[in-house]
Amino acid sequence: MFPEKIEQAYELLLEGSQLLQNVLESNFFEGYIENGGNVIEGYTTKVVDDVPNEETTTHLNELYRKLQALDLAPEEWRKVAQLVLLKGSVTEPLQANHQLTPDSIGFLFVFLIEQLYAGKKEVTILDNTIGMGNLLLTVLTNLALAGIKGEAYGVDVDDTLLTIAAVNADMTGVDLQLFHQDGVGDLKIEPVDVVIGDLPVGYYPDDKKAARYQMFSKVGHTYAHHLLIEQGMKQVKEGGFGIFLVPTNLFSSEQSKQLKEWMENSAYLQGIIQLPENLFKTENAQKNIVLFQKHGGDAKQAQVLVASLNSLTEPTKIQLFFKQFLNWKENNNF
Ligand SMILES: C[S@@+](CC[C@H](N)C(=O)[O-])C[C@H]1O[C@@H](n2cnc3c(N)ncnc32)[C@H](O)[C@@H]1O
Repeated sequence: MFPEKIEQAYELLLEGSQLLQNVLESNFFEGYIENGGNVIEGYTTKVVDDVPNEETTTHLNELYRKLQALDLAPEEWRKVAQLVLLKGSVTEPLQANHQLTPDSIGFLFVFLIEQLYAGKKEVTILDNTIGMGNLLLTVLTNLALAGIKGEAYGVDVDDTLLTIAAVNADMTGVDLQLFHQDGVGDLKIEPVDVVIGDLPVGYYPDDKKAARYQMFSKVGHTYAHHLLIEQGMKQVKEGGFGIFLVPTNLFSSEQSKQLKEWMENSAYLQGIIQLPENLFKTENAQKNIVLFQKHGGDAKQAQVLVASLNSLTEPTKIQLFFKQFLNWKENNNF
């Protein structure tokens, strides 16, 4: 299914991660981080107090020698990392809100950014829930292949996931700055062209902090994904875009009134892309891609794009969506 080079790299990175997991008596993801650290630090095993022992160190160094010889390109590294992390999450299941965004969805983000920023040589991008980084790295490595340089920022509250993102960013060599902090909070970066995110779904526990936002709900806790959309769009330049993976009930939930009120003076809803149901394990877990544009600059309300993609594997269906998007873009002067 994958080119031999990717298969070989997958086996090597997986074996190294599992070996270090055992040596450290930790979980798979800690092993992955340690292994990735060795790869980044010159394809050599870090030994502390004779751990790992000589035999394991020799074996690991042999894996790294083979991995280095494969001379992977950035997008190949990204693919291999994704496959190894997916394998790891089979043995150590992650909660739904922590799972990486599959590249079948990431490629749609790439297409949207490429189209919305056509003609630009550089784009600044923020992912304010970067997790293990697969979505943002899919975007960055594929924009680079299309001749667009991405300068990116990633934020996450989870230390382990953010460290994995850091390892993957170093392996792929992308231009990415990471922030370990709550995405519902101020960020010390200049406004970006576009904000993206596969948003966690659920309630945000800190009502005091949530009260600073227009989408604050006076009843119960506010939805975390609402606050992350509002904060994300604050970080975007005037007329810039926000592309988010959100629950399908975004505009019909009990807190959708606050979302619509926020939209009135902050952002235009320019598009909704429905994704195939079979991508998600349960009906509740289903998500759409929404496209917001911040008020200001040349931005104005377009005819809202409503597209339904019922397969991400059949090229003809994807081509149809691309055509629909290009027509919409032309008709609305984007
Ligand atoms: C579905 S995952 C994102 C997956 C990511 N796109 C990837 O490809 O790996 C959602 C992420 O949101 C993060 N998260 C949850 N609440 C957050 C908050 N308040 N601020 C920042 N990140 C948050 C979680 O730690 C998790 O990594």
